Amino acid sequence: MPTQTTEWSCQKCGATAASWIGRCDVCGAFSSYVETPSVASSNGSTRKSNGGILPLGEVISAGTDRLATGIKELDCVLGGGFVRGSVVLLGGEPGVGKSTILMQACVRLAETVPVIYLSAEETVGQIRLRAERLGAIPPSLRVTGDSNIVSIVEAVQNDPPGLLVVDSIQTVYTPTVTSSPGSVSQVRECGSALIALAKSTGVPIVLVGHVTRDGTIAGPRVLEHMVDTVLYFDSGENHTFRILRAIKNRFGSSSELGIFEMSATGLRAVDNPSRALLAERRPNAPGSVVSSVIEGSRAFLVEIQSLVMPSYPDTEPKRHFEGVDSGRCAMLMAVLERLGGIGLSGHDIYVSVAGGFEAKEPAVDLAICLAVTSALSKRAFDSKTVAVGEVGLLGEVRSVPMLPTRLAEAQQLGFANVVVPKGQAVNLGTDLSLSAVATLTEGIATVSNVAK
Ligand code: TYD
Ligand code: MG
Repeated sequence: MPTQTTEWSCQKCGATAASWIGRCDVCGAFSSYVETPSVASSNGSTRKSNGGILPLGEVISAGTDRLATGIKELDCVLGGGFVRGSVVLLGGEPGVGKSTILMQACVRLAETVPVIYLSAEETVGQIRLRAERLGAIPPSLRVTGDSNIVSIVEAVQNDPPGLLVVDSIQTVYTPTVTSSPGSVSQVRECGSALIALAKSTGVPIVLVGHVTRDGTIAGPRVLEHMVDTVLYFDSGENHTFRILRAIKNRFGSSSELGIFEMSATGLRAVDNPSRALLAERRPNAPGSVVSSVIEGSRAFLVEIQSLVMPSYPDTEPKRHFEGVDSGRCAMLMAVLERLGGIGLSGHDIYVSVAGGFEAKEPAVDLAICLAVTSALSKRAFDSKTVAVGEVGLLGEVRSVPMLPTRLAEAQQLGFANVVVPKGQAVNLGTDLSLSAVATLTEGIATVSNVAK
């Protein structure tokens, strides 16, 4: 028989101790320990057990029945839909659209299976208002504002739905724990109860999790380890797109991502993000070079922009890098000066990625160098050319991963030429014309060749 015992746990990091301590040994927080009940099993010495050890061949394989939501990008990130008995944690900043995307999924799913949406954050009236914006409300979509996890577990056991959404894990509570909702011990206990519920009933459960300012899901990190799938909904630097990505997925790839835009009637998938990112580009403007970044298994074309100006006399030259890796960008400026023969001293240098997209992989190095060169020389880089390549400290242009995927995206968007690392310029099977460059100096020469 399991017995109820008491332990003390830190409200900051979730560490536990057998008695109260004034300062947490793990995170150093003061007065953060509160008493929490825990369940310990008896040692069961009277029962002989083989520890549940079985030949793997005799184990019945866990089915991966999927419940597709019909929202293509969400299904793709999930690996095909919600798996029976699995628990998904959806994290994101307030206002990014977590409740919206889940309600959109629920409205669609409720056409075929019963769905329960638990909202302890908003009133059921507010939930109805949101659902009305998103489409017709199916009768098998049920909502509750009850934040007591014990009642919801009982209700689901009595009448299991096809999907349960708990919005959010920080606002529900279990009466067996004395601390307030959102505390580490509450989040952990409620999380475990819901995970056990999913496993015992086969109902897939989605937990919404708030993200703290440092970007982690509030409450114990242990929740991320306990659930099957962790999704993050992120709005980038200037909120152009909302990017949904899996950072852990026991039932699918963790490299897929979905791109959405918020509209008056909910979130809409963006079919062609590259086209949207390049839509407002001014062709033949000095300082603009298109490059390609990989997110998940997809390639996107991004416009790297640079502005180079003489600094004001007697002031420190400014360096401002946005959407790119600033440390790497500073290194590239040094390589440009030393090995590219470009004199940048006495100049303010600005580099950014248009549209607020982040391009932090080394494959955009060459495009950054070419954009700065183009801005300084006031010569435009050909607007039908894409540049990809990593630039090394010795000025060499190095290979990039997934080059064929990047080329295919460039071709689809109507580009004619690509500047590529020389080491990769063979058997690429593309109709695009390729300029193979081995060094930064050769890369810079392509700017002058194609300048208008
Ligand atoms: P919400 O989904 O509640 O975000 P979260 O649950 O992550 O905190 O809301 C996202 C924002 O989008 C909110 O400010 C209202 C807005 N919104 C729209 O612009 N269009 C819509 O159709 C809906 C439902 C919300
Ligand atoms: Mg919400």
